[in-house]
Formats: sequence, C-alpha cells, structure tokens
Amino acid sequence: MDLKGKSVVVGVCGGIATYKVVEVVSRLKKMGAEVDVIMTANAQKFVTPLTFRSLSHRPVVTDMFNDPEYWDIKHISLAKKADLFIVAPATANIIGKLAAGIADDMLSTTLVATKAPVLIVPAMNHDMYANAVVQRNIEMLRGLGYMFMEPDTGRMAEGTSGKGRLPEPSSIVERACSILCPKQDLKGIRMVVTAGPTRENIDPVRYLSNYSSGKMGYAVARAASERGADVVLISGPVEIECPEGVQLIRTTTADEMHEAVLSSFENCDVLVMAAAVADYRPAEVSEFKIKKTDDDMVLRLVKNPDILKKLGTMKGSKTLIGFSAETDNLMENAAKKLEAKNLDMIVANDVTLEGAGFGTDTNIIKIIRRDGSITDLPLMSKLEAAHRILDEFCDMVAKD
Ligand code: CTP
Repeated sequence: MDLKGKSVVVGVCGGIATYKVVEVVSRLKKMGAEVDVIMTANAQKFVTPLTFRSLSHRPVVTDMFNDPEYWDIKHISLAKKADLFIVAPATANIIGKLAAGIADDMLSTTLVATKAPVLIVPAMNHDMYANAVVQRNIEMLRGLGYMFMEPDTGRMAEGTSGKGRLPEPSSIVERACSILCPKQDLKGIRMVVTAGPTRENIDPVRYLSNYSSGKMGYAVARAASERGADVVLISGPVEIECPEGVQLIRTTTADEMHEAVLSSFENCDVLVMAAAVADYRPAEVSEFKIKKTDDDMVLRLVKNPDILKKLGTMKGSKTLIGFSAETDNLMENAAKKLEAKNLDMIVANDVTLEGAGFGTDTNIIKIIRRDGSITDLPLMSKLEAAHRILDEFCDMVAKD
C-alpha cells in the first residue's frame, strides 16, 4: 500500500514493548508516509530518540520547551498535520490522562489538540489492563470516537501470561492503513440505508415517536460510502449532518419512509433498515390543536406498514439487513424477525445495556446471518460497529 502524502504522528510511551514500535515507524516510513515521533520521558529510557530519528528521517519531539527546529509551535503543528495519530505502546498512564483531558507533556498536549483520528494501542501488565479504572477509561474514550486495538494475549515480560502484549507491528500497520486508506470493497454496490425515528402526527403540535437518534444508521451510511458504495440515506427527523458523498432523502412519517424506500428499492443491491419505524399511527390526525377536556383521552391507533416485511416478499437477489433493538429475549426475538421478514442478516442489540441504548455513540451488537451463524461483538463506537456489519456483508457475499 502506498502511504505517500499521508502524515502519521506516532506517540511513543515507556514500556517494555517500546522497542516494537521502532518497527511500526520503519514500516510506515517504507510505505511512503511522513512519520513524526513524539516520545515521552519514560519512552526515552527504553529506546533512544536517535533510533526513531534515523528511521523516520525527522527530528523526534521529546520536550515541550526545546528550541523548535523550524519556527512553529510543535504540539499544534503536529496535531494539525496528522492524518492519523497512533499511540503505542499506550500505557495506563496516557490512557488515564487522555480520559481526564490532562495535557502535561508534549504527547498528552498534542493528543488533546489534535482533531485527527487517534488509534490507541495499549500494552501493559495484564492486571493493569484488566483494572476497572483502565477499562472504564477505554470505554469512555471509545465512546468519544477514539479507536483502540485489543492487546494480544500471551507471555508477558515479567514471566506470567495474560492479555496485555502489544499486537504485532504488522497488525498495527495494517490497522493504520485501513484507517488512512479505507478499503474500496463496496465499489459498485448500490445501498439504501434508513435511519432515525419516524414521527406520527396527532395534531399540528403533537406527535408519537421513539428515542432513536439515527446515529447507527448514519454510521452505516458513512462507512459504506467511505468504502466505495453509492449510498442513499432515507432518514427520519434527526440532528446529524449527512455524511459526505451520501444522497439524503428526508422523511417524517412511516408512510413517507415507506414510499421513499419503495421508490429507491428497485435500483439498489442492499437495503439496511436501521430506522426505528413506528408500528402504529393515530387513526386520525386532527387539523386543529386538540383541546383538553375534563375527561381522559383515548387515542385510537392504526397499524403502519411493515416496510421491511413487505420488501422481504419482493427481494429477489437483493440483500436485506434488518435491525432488532430489544429489551428482553434478544436473540430469540431477533431470529424470529429475520425469519418473518425474509432477511439475510439481522443486527441485534439489547438497548438496556450501558453503552448500547438509543442516543449513545457506542453499541454492543450481535449479527445473525440467515445460515444461523452469530457474530458477537464487544462495545465499540457505532462507526466501528457499522464497519463490522459491512465486513459481515462482504464475507456473506463472498461465500455465496
Ligand atoms: N421495521 C419496518 N417497518 C416497521 C417496523 C419495523 O421496516 N413498521 C423494520 C425496522 O427498521 C427493523 C426491523 O423491521 O429493521 C425490526 O424492527 P422492530 O421494531 O425491532 O420490529 P417489529 O417488527 O416492529 O416488532 P416489535 O416492535 O414488536 O419488536
């Protein structure tokens, strides 16, 4: 892969795995990336800045207050120029500082200042990694969009075994490449994605709706578009910006969404139905604001069309992916919907779990395929979850 024109800043912390990051820098440089290294004071006790300087062909940043090589404010200029920021090995200390917004040395200051995607690669003693505070910090940062690699499990420097080893340099570089140059494995695929809630009007000032934020559907649309798909996003009323390159159709009611999906369906290869469509709507919509009376009020509801179920009867060779947000009997309910709506895949999530409900930036999903296989994923950002759903789709198509 050619990384020419890409700028990678590698923040190196102190740990026994520090020496492995030398190879990460070397590989990135060989692939054409411009690599700037920032070392913490502790990192310099394990490997000298000279090693990184020789491989990156760039001055290594070690101190906030050194005279700059060129007249720029280093932590700001590196924060701005980075297309990707990698922190490896990421110690419990740097993860804690970032989670708390602490900026007390060159690495932490640049991290707080950057808007680039940040890939954090923890490596530490397995008890430290398992510590509840460290895990809480990781979950919190994941929720804010920071990306993490899971440490490898194996023999640690201190002689015991556990989860805490730095992943192989080749895996770190592979992950960096997939962030810098997203794969184009959905090129030529026409995808319709629905997202958000629907609103069912009662009168001109009131409606029935649900808590769907649209974040999951928007993440799928964004991820698919980044991977080369032509994406039409049919969205209920939400407060999210449309991802670049995606065609947006706004709808309000289930009926409107139904119509929009039907008219886009013929020209698509895949439908991802992430919207939370209201199952019922008021039987009548009052033209005027309904006035309060002394009595209770009865609102009669009639059924909305089940959009996905209908498309399941006319799907032909298209792929249908549904969502199933549940509060109980997650897998059983999701499997039933997959069957009843003639889907190829359903994404199930238990909205009662912390980090998996409506409105969060994270999700905990299980992907069930038509053949019964289940992929059980841990808590991750909705964008990462979206990529995993698309990976499953690609894998399923490849096996067909
Ligand atoms: N769905 C749909 N049209 C509806 C209701 C749901 O297309 N009127 C789609 C959703 O977008 C989702 C899947 O069907 O992809 C499952 O939705 P869900 O609300 O979980 O299931 P329902 O079939 O409505 O069943 P219930 O509400 O009883 O759980």
